[in-house]
Amino acid sequence: MNGSDNPIGRRALLKMIAAMAGSCWLTPSLIQAVERTAIKKTIPVSNETLPVIGMGTSRTFDSAGNSERIANLGKVLEQFFSMGGSLIDSSPMYGSAEHVLGTLLKRTQPGSLFAATKVWTDGKEHGVTQMELSRKLWGVERFDLMQIHNLRDWQVHLETLKRMKAEGKIRYIGITTSHGRDHDELYRVLSNNPFDFVQLSYNIRDRAVESRLLPLAMDRGIAVIANRPFARGSLFRQVKEKPLPEWVDEFDCNSWAQFFLKYIVSHPAITCAIPATSKVHHVLDNMSAGFGKMPDSAMRGEMERTFEKIPQA
Ligand SMILES: NC(=O)c1ccc[n+]([C@@H]2O[C@H](COP(=O)([O-])OP(=O)(O)OC[C@H]3O[C@@H](n4cnc5c(N)ncnc54)[C@H](OP(=O)(O)O)[C@@H]3O)[C@@H](O)[C@H]2O)c1
Repeated sequence: MNGSDNPIGRRALLKMIAAMAGSCWLTPSLIQAVERTAIKKTIPVSNETLPVIGMGTSRTFDSAGNSERIANLGKVLEQFFSMGGSLIDSSPMYGSAEHVLGTLLKRTQPGSLFAATKVWTDGKEHGVTQMELSRKLWGVERFDLMQIHNLRDWQVHLETLKRMKAEGKIRYIGITTSHGRDHDELYRVLSNNPFDFVQLSYNIRDRAVESRLLPLAMDRGIAVIANRPFARGSLFRQVKEKPLPEWVDEFDCNSWAQFFLKYIVSHPAITCAIPATSKVHHVLDNMSAGFGKMPDSAMRGEMERTFEKIPQA
């Protein structure tokens, strides 16, 4: 992981951020300090680095027609970028999310946006048309990452994506799932095809990918995006009213959200996690997980044992 020290100290900085979690502002000097220390990981195929916390848009950004919600999502985006956020993930599957996101990106200073969306349809022509519509909705010149959503018609789309990458129309090719039933097929697909990224579900409760898919990604130099980092929010219901263990201080953790995210991104195969949120104070909380110390493998084991003792809600 990349990161560096800052003058006010990581722990003090994180405490300040935590203290401000209920408010919606960061001073410019604090933002600068934060940006200097954002932890990044490397995309194996290119050595480009990405902040370990990105953002998802499923459900949260599917908000067309609700002006109050959209105005708030604009603040969510501003907070994300002000803390060095980069990768945003969407899909044509997410209703109006790409439309809302594109509208807001035009109003925001997108900083270093890493634009990731998906193709989710059957057939070559439909795929090409859908990707072009997504590009217009986002208002970007090109996508950094185009992923085949849930393996749908992947053989056909992969050929299109290889051509688009060769022509400079996208930078990276990926494929996604969130279903355990796809894991065997995904394993075969990744073993035999040139994917730069894979996106799959990984969180402290759902660790099915640890046995085969994450080792394969490491072997083949494939960047990994962890979706559903909070199991669609259900992890918070499980730990409701449970205090954080005292020892989480050892890895600069101030909330359950940071506990869950630091657990994920400290796995050596994981490049970044993409929590979705509709709330400014949650994006502040989530982005803070990308700073400071991370748990080592012994500590990760302790986190698993602690979480497993808490009955599922
Ligand atoms: N097959 C695929 O390609 C696939 C499948 C699933 C997901 N994904 C991607 O992965 C992203 C993330 O997954 P997800 O959206 O399903 O679920 P998630 O990120 O695991 O959970 C989102 C939920 O957590 C809550 N939350 C976020 N931050 C919080 C915090 N700090 N404290 C308390 N609650 C918090 C959110 O509510 P609030 O709005 O109240 O914060 C929301 O209800 C998606 O948005 C999508 O981009 C891709």
